[in-house]
Amino acid sequence: MKSQPKHYYPLFLNLTGQTALVLGGDVVAEAKVRPLLAAGANIRLVASQVSHSLAAMLEKADAEILTGKFVSTHLDGVQLAIDCGGAPSCSAALRRAAKARGVLLNCVDAETQADFISPATLTRGPLQVAISTGGAAPLFARNLRQMLDVLLPASLGAVLTAVGGFRAKVKAILPSGKRKAFWEAIFDHKTLETLQGLPENELESALEGHLSAAQKGAPADAIGTVTLIGAGPGHAELITLAGLKALQQADVVLYDALVDPAMIGYARRDAQLIPVGKRCGKQSASQGFINRTLANMAKQGKNIARLKCGDPFVFGRGGEEIEFLEAQSVPVVVVPGVTAASAAAADVKLSLTHRGVARRLTFMTGTTADALPDDKPDWQALLTGGTVAIYMAKKSLARTLADIQSAGFGAGLPAVWVANAGRPDKQIVHSTVGTLSADIAALHTEAPSLVLIGEAMATATGKNLLADAQGQVEQAAL
Ligand SMILES: C[S@@+](CC[C@H](N)C(=O)[O-])C[C@H]1O[C@@H](n2cnc3c(N)ncnc32)[C@H](O)[C@@H]1O
Repeated sequence: MKSQPKHYYPLFLNLTGQTALVLGGDVVAEAKVRPLLAAGANIRLVASQVSHSLAAMLEKADAEILTGKFVSTHLDGVQLAIDCGGAPSCSAALRRAAKARGVLLNCVDAETQADFISPATLTRGPLQVAISTGGAAPLFARNLRQMLDVLLPASLGAVLTAVGGFRAKVKAILPSGKRKAFWEAIFDHKTLETLQGLPENELESALEGHLSAAQKGAPADAIGTVTLIGAGPGHAELITLAGLKALQQADVVLYDALVDPAMIGYARRDAQLIPVGKRCGKQSASQGFINRTLANMAKQGKNIARLKCGDPFVFGRGGEEIEFLEAQSVPVVVVPGVTAASAAAADVKLSLTHRGVARRLTFMTGTTADALPDDKPDWQALLTGGTVAIYMAKKSLARTLADIQSAGFGAGLPAVWVANAGRPDKQIVHSTVGTLSADIAALHTEAPSLVLIGEAMATATGKNLLADAQGQVEQAAL
């Protein structure tokens, strides 16, 4: 039978001027004393031994230190107690006494005996976030806290403190009907981000500016920003932190076909989601439509995340979108992403440049070879001491590999084919320019793929692919 998760009643206690008893004098006790002091509690610490740093902290806070064993009278005037684990007889005595007196008790090593548990916490000025898994997965609570720590900038604390100090003024000046709209405008992602970027001593005047604009009924900032975000090779975790933040702040998200659907889930719940995927010639939205949509929505004051697979500036037409938007005076920000070749190199654990083997790296596209028949790559120049990453290579692969050999390279020159790079369902074929076409002929996959060619593709794993002209197919285990 499935056991039901235990749910605690969440609350934030006002401990200002209240007495809290802590049993124990080591690092665990120190970790418990710190937030109690921050909450304004008077500390009474009972321990046979107290660490040097804890003693110094308590002395500074003018706290009571009672050395020796716990006795029930130590709970006189106490509202809350924490047993940090130590002598079992003391813990048992504290548990009995706390129960008899109705004092709330937390037991570090014996949660089932406790009245309350300590959540993982995060603080930004007046903001306090407390996370609990009810004891089911404390490590997950800690990890979640770390994620939030990264997402909420330290400067948010100063903004919220300034906002708190400004509330009374807003209440006095704005009629109640206008107040909600004012605060909504302040906590709009774009305004909040601007406020977070200001030095602390400029926050109040910035809020004053918003207040006087609200009084005059001035319209909000009229034009939104388009952020071209490199979404990486198709795994939700391979977006950058800056990309994730921009995505989470967007009112509208336009996304490519190769973007991981899980990544779209990071967008705000109320964000408008527009797929504009283009895949293998099956065009679902023209570049013109994408450009116009971006510009029109920005002019409506919306912030737009334009999620592009890989890096926006590597075969991503990011430059064309910027040109169009800037011509219409729409502000554009670019967040770089992990390009597919980098993800593929990581998958095969082969460095694209390699000391003494490859000091040059070329990104090229197989499709451009089709579109520009006179543009003949100088394979000698590209592959002598260099690695070439060919995107969209499939259609022209046989001809490319033949050209490389005609340029004077032996059939044993290493070539690696990677499909779905950076994703759990990646496919890797280690081969050579002489055998790659045949090696991948049997793999009927529509997955996005690229080819890495050059001597560097034979190093690092210990395998000498020059000697292994048979090729080898690896299906990822995941
Ligand atoms: C229009 S280009 C976009 C490239 C992207 N801007 C980048 O930086 O990776 C699409 C091509 O990139 C390559 N590609 C994209 N994602 C890939 C992946 N996960 N694995 C292998 N190749 C990928 C394929 O060659 C695909 O046809």
